[in-house]
Parts: sequence; structure tokens; C-alpha cells
Amino acid sequence: MSPMENAERGLCSRAVGSLTPERKHASLSEKLRLLEAIITTPIYTSIGYASGQVVYTSTVEGAVDLWALDLGSGCSRRLTEGGVHLVAPTRHESPYVIYTQDVSKGRELQQVYAVNIKNSDSFALEGFEPRRILGLGFDGKSVALAAAGDGVELWLLSLGGGAEKLHSVASMMYVTDFNDGVIVGQGVLKGNPRSFEVFMYDLGTGEFEVYTPREGAVNKRPVTRGGRVLFATNAFGKDELVLYDRRSEELQKVEFSGSDLREYDPTEYLDFGWTSEGVVWAIGKRDGRSKLFLDGKILPLPDGLVYGADFVGSKAYVTHSSLTSPPKICEVDLSGGYRVILGGELREEILRLIGRSYMVRIRSFDGLEIPTFVVESNASPKPGPSVVYVHGGPWSEVADRWDMFIASLAALGYHVIAPNFRGSTGYGEEFRVMDIGDPGGGDLEDVAKAAEWAVNHGLASKIAVMGYSYGGFMTFLSTVKKPHIFDAGVAGAGVADWEEMYELSDAFFRQFIDILFNGKRELWKDRSAINFAEELRAPLCIIHPQNDSRTPFKPVLRYVWKLMELGKTFELHVVPEAGHAITNLENAIKLLMPAVIFLEKYLGR
Ligand code: 4NP
Repeated sequence: MSPMENAERGLCSRAVGSLTPERKHASLSEKLRLLEAIITTPIYTSIGYASGQVVYTSTVEGAVDLWALDLGSGCSRRLTEGGVHLVAPTRHESPYVIYTQDVSKGRELQQVYAVNIKNSDSFALEGFEPRRILGLGFDGKSVALAAAGDGVELWLLSLGGGAEKLHSVASMMYVTDFNDGVIVGQGVLKGNPRSFEVFMYDLGTGEFEVYTPREGAVNKRPVTRGGRVLFATNAFGKDELVLYDRRSEELQKVEFSGSDLREYDPTEYLDFGWTSEGVVWAIGKRDGRSKLFLDGKILPLPDGLVYGADFVGSKAYVTHSSLTSPPKICEVDLSGGYRVILGGELREEILRLIGRSYMVRIRSFDGLEIPTFVVESNASPKPGPSVVYVHGGPWSEVADRWDMFIASLAALGYHVIAPNFRGSTGYGEEFRVMDIGDPGGGDLEDVAKAAEWAVNHGLASKIAVMGYSYGGFMTFLSTVKKPHIFDAGVAGAGVADWEEMYELSDAFFRQFIDILFNGKRELWKDRSAINFAEELRAPLCIIHPQNDSRTPFKPVLRYVWKLMELGKTFELHVVPEAGHAITNLENAIKLLMPAVIFLEKYLGR
């Protein structure tokens, strides 16, 4: 090669060097700046009303903390620091708010606290060793909760001191309400993995009663007042609200004077209860959106997901969000209209980057329709880099609700395809139970079909699969079982080996796994990516909280070791002192930032 040619090559490479890498770098740092802006957009979620104040959680100070807004003065005050885990429904007449905090660096061993919203004084409830807590109820004086122990235990903790274990079951169970001496909740209490029964624990008699209007029915979210229990059931066909009278043992369907709820024809009920006047309110949901009803009459709110209402006099306080609008708190006037009292929109520059969102029904391999949310990116052409986002749960869903992962991906230039694969909630019980006995089977085919749809419809050029928790499991499994579909995978808090996962799980999650697999432990091997590591072709970005106690890190580390030995392309990011639940923004950034850098490299235009 002549010096001239060398010089030319040098010049040429300098020219390339001075443009391409710098431009790429600039675009990546721009993406990271946008990511930070999205993650730090404050989120507001209403908990309820107590002593003249609206109690809510907000991330405005960097963690999901409790706050109280004084409706008289309009001033807000922070009640906790460092993030809360669970919060019990408030009592209108009590100044105390009950919440739990993780005291185990993310292992989800939770201590129970009470805070007085009048003076912000807080104290731990005595006599209870920190545990995984599965639902809280508060009657104004005592706290009822379910906690993982030898089995799942029912506990009563008094604000004045003293804790008592009331009952224990060898099944999955949650507390949903506590009032007038009765603790209620739901669980898989008759050994049928496809049903949920209501339980009622009477503090007067010490009796633990399991109730269902029909064997095999799914009964959800009981609330109780004055000897009556209000819950949703599919005992008579589709989900509807019923009232059970404990004294007469009679069950009746709730009758409403308005017809809006009946006409809306909800697939399920997200939340419901009584106003202080004893009128039933409900949040009905269908196709990923929900509406608020009082006595069957609709109370207008914007499209999206409405959840967690509390009715006080002539007002109701609810949370609203959508795929493009972060959660905010609305005050609804019962005579018509609403106003946002806490919360804001995304910055204009970010909103412009997120494209249109819509639902498509994708036909799967067996003809089943998979309701799938698509959020396009305005920062990319079509076809362009795309991500199939797999939600967690698996008994959960992607709805027209704020999702930090989806909003970030769309703003950063990825079209997002989020399938509600079989087993997702929100589309009826028949659809919800379709993954029982077959996790990582039919649902994995649905995810593969969603990717195929995105390519065939001119949306996706390159395509990645990404998910957290059950979505991380599906990412691991799809990249080895369907190695030619995805160009890259991002697995957050995933499951790579069910066998070791089971060994490391507590009583609650062992129940969960047995229910999910319907006891078919012989399937564990086939549904664990660790046994198919040779098949992996796509680069994999693995992100895991160090102290995750729901999807433990150890089996994932063993999978990583296998990938190492096989010479596969992967990266591993561990979020130190973090657990499964993301309760602060620092950890959210630590989870998402590696994903963004990875996707830029392997899916970049
Ligand atoms: P999730 O986590 O997706 O965040 O709800 C899970 C944790 C455990 C299991 C599934 C999902 N499990 O089967 O044990």
C-alpha cells in the first residue's frame, strides 16, 4: 500500500471516526437523558381519604413514598422516607395510615408501620417479625394481614401493641379488607388452581370460613361492612358483583339504579366498595380501559385506566393514567366533572417522540385472539427497530395504563408490541387460566406470533424481546426455544431454572409455582432456559436485582456460567441491594439504563 493510499485511508478513517462514533455517542447520551427524564417524571397514586386529607404515594422525592394533601390548606406533606412497599386502605375517621417497608435490602421482609398524618409521627407495630406480606386490612384500631411463614398465616397486630397469629393455611391467600370484627380475603383455598374462594375470619368466634357461591368459581377482592361481604364472582357466568349476608347466609346480586354499568358490560371489576351512605360504587374494566360508576351511573373521566377510588361526601378521589400519561390523582365531582389535583403530563419533547397507541387482536397458532397493545415510536421509521414487551405476573396485563418500560422504549425509538398472551388478566377467566399447567408453552407461542405480526405488518425491522419477572422468564425461554425470531433479548429479574427457583422460594411462592404448573413438576425441565443454553443465538442482556426473593438471582447466575462456557454473547448487570419490587428511581434507572445501551448496540439503526 502506498503512503498516499495510507494517508487516504487514514484520512478516510479519521473522517468516519470523527462522524459516526461521535454521532452514535451523542444519540446514546441523548437517549439516556430522555430515559432519566421519563423515569423521574413524578407518579401520583391515590390511597384514600383520612381525617380531612388525601393520602397518596408519589415518587417526587425519588422513592415511592407516602404523602398527605390537606384539602383545606392545599398543602402536601411527606410521611415516609426511602420508599414504602404496601399501604392498607385508609379509614376516613382515623388519622393513622398503615404501611410496610422492606427492612432486608430488597428481600421483601417487611415491617409494619403506622403514621399519624396529623403530626407525621410513625412507629413500628410490635410483635411481628418482618416477613413477606400478602395484603393488609385496617379497621382503625388493628391491622389484619397475611404473611408467608410455614404456610400463609393470618395475623392481627394492634396499634396499641400486641400481635397474634390467628390462622394458617397451606395455600396462596391474600387479605383484602378488615372491618367490624371480620377479616376477609381471597385465596386458592379448595386446592383447585383455577378457582379463588373468599375467606371470612370472625374475630368474635375465631372461625375461619371459606365461601364460594359455586365450586370452581373465581371470587375476587371481598370487602366487608356490617356483616355483609361484597365481592366479584364468575359463579353465574361472567364477572358480577354480589353481596353475601353472613347472618342469613344469603347471596344476592347487587342491583344498581343506573344502567350505565350494565350497558358498559365490564369484563371484570378492578375495585368496588360502599360510600359512607352505603351506596355501591365500582370500577368496571374492559379491553385495557376502565370506568368509574356510582350506583351504576358513570362518572366521566378521560380514557385510560381509572383505579383505587375513595368516595367522600360529594367527591371521589381516583388515580388515572394511560400508556402516554403518568398516574395522577383526580377529584371527581359527583354532580359532574373532575379536576386533576396532583400530577402532571410528560414533557412536550417526550410526548412528541411517543407515537400512536392502539390495540390489535393477533391470531395465535391455534386461532385464539391475543389482545395486543402497540405503541409506535415517532423517533423511528416503519419498519423500524421494535421490541416485543412481555408483561410480568403472569396473571397481569398490559393495559392503557402508564408503564415506565413501554413509555421509555417508545420515546427512545422502538416500536413496542405488548401482547396480552394467554393467561393474562382482563379478558375473562377462561383466558386467564389458559396458562395453568402450561407456562412457557401456549403463552410463548403467543409472544412469537406477536413478533411475527410486527414484521408482517411493516412495523418491525429488527426485533428484540424484553420483559421483567415472568416477562424475563419468557425472554430467557423464547431466545432458546425460538432462537430465530429475535435479534436480541433483555431479561430483567427472569426465571432460568424452575427447579432451583422452587428450592429457593418461600411457602407463598412454592404455592404459586405449584398452581401455575398445576403440580406438573415434570414440566419444569422443559420450561427452563438453563437446559437449552446451547440453542441461544441472540445477544442477551441480563439484569437482575441482587436480593430478589421472588425470582432469585442464583439460578440466573448458573445460567450465566453456562452461557460463559458456551461462548454466548451476553451481558450481566446486577442491581446491588435491590429486590424484585422497584420502589426507588435510582434502581429503576439501574434496571433500564443497561437495557437502553444494549438495545442501541444490537437493534440500532
Ligand atoms: P412477577 O413475578 O412476574 O413480578 O409477578 C413472579 C414471581 C414468581 C413467579 C412468577 C412471577 N413464580 O412462578 O413463582
